[in-house]
Amino acid sequence: MNKELLNDIPSLEYQAIAEIERASSLQDLEKVRLLYLGKKGIVRAYFNDLRNIDSAEEKRNLGEVINALRDKLDNLIRNKEDVLRAEEITSKLQNEAVDITLPVRPEKIGKIHPLSKVINEVKLIFAHMGFSAVDGPDIEDEFHVFDALNTPSYHPAREEQDTFYLKEKIDGKRMVLRTHTSSVQIRTMEKAKRFPIKIVAPGRVYRNDFDATHTPMFHQIEGLYVAENVNMGQLKFTIHNFLNKFFGEKGLKIRFRNSFFPFTEPSAEVDISYKGSKWIEVLGCGMVHPNVFKNVGIDHTKYNGFAFGIGIERLAMLKYQIPDLRSFYDNKISWLNHYGFSFSSLR
Ligand code: PHE
Repeated sequence: MNKELLNDIPSLEYQAIAEIERASSLQDLEKVRLLYLGKKGIVRAYFNDLRNIDSAEEKRNLGEVINALRDKLDNLIRNKEDVLRAEEITSKLQNEAVDITLPVRPEKIGKIHPLSKVINEVKLIFAHMGFSAVDGPDIEDEFHVFDALNTPSYHPAREEQDTFYLKEKIDGKRMVLRTHTSSVQIRTMEKAKRFPIKIVAPGRVYRNDFDATHTPMFHQIEGLYVAENVNMGQLKFTIHNFLNKFFGEKGLKIRFRNSFFPFTEPSAEVDISYKGSKWIEVLGCGMVHPNVFKNVGIDHTKYNGFAFGIGIERLAMLKYQIPDLRSFYDNKISWLNHYGFSFSSLR
């Protein structure tokens, strides 16, 4: 029996070493360790067998051999453990590494609509001239859209075929979708506590019109300047300065053409030259009518002012060569990709 035990050892050792080498993970290695060096492992069993040996000398010799085997396997296993642990870390580092030389993934961030872009440009130019931007409601009462603006109820603009009216309320009043941003002039003057008043008001306006050059909703930006001693020369300067800055063209031709609005006197429409010899209208303007001041409780003998209303779509079409008015509202992504602006262009 003892002899057999002793004979077994070299092949056991050989087998154990092979298995340790083959272990490709820490879990594998742990299985091998338990098989040979565990409490119920093969080497332990050999030690137990020593009890059955009578000769003390033989016992000691055999004990030494088994001890040596245990130490050797233990060492090999520890070394292998170090190797496997290092490999694990290396592969983890490789797998989790960030390659900072890779190009960034393309990200879709959309485009700024030309109307938003133009509104922004216009606001900016007027901001440089001291005009602050304000807002007003799209759904308005008739007082702010018409009456306060010196537009009596028999005026054609108030007819149903031009204006969108909402359903009558219990008190008999009807709200309207504002037909122009001039309603914001009224709202601003009503609550004004200090002078000068110097505002621009961009927004949507609505008219019952639909053909190649009209859409039922479009955009305007209203301007209002009220102070003492405001004159038409200042209005002309402001409009000239704005148009020259906006179009950035040397020698842009600008024409003031006399016109009529119920809320300004005198009134003018402003055209700019385009395609050589042609003129195109871009805005209406004039000196605030005394009746308008009366309607909002501002002393028209002390203050006067000018106002203007600019068509945003027109400006956008002219500056950015957009041929069709209706394309602004088609929501075609290909159109927006072509005519839209990057976010950084807003700065
Ligand atoms: N509200 C006018 C329009 O819509 C434009 C305008 C505004 C004219 C201010 C004079 C003064 O046509």
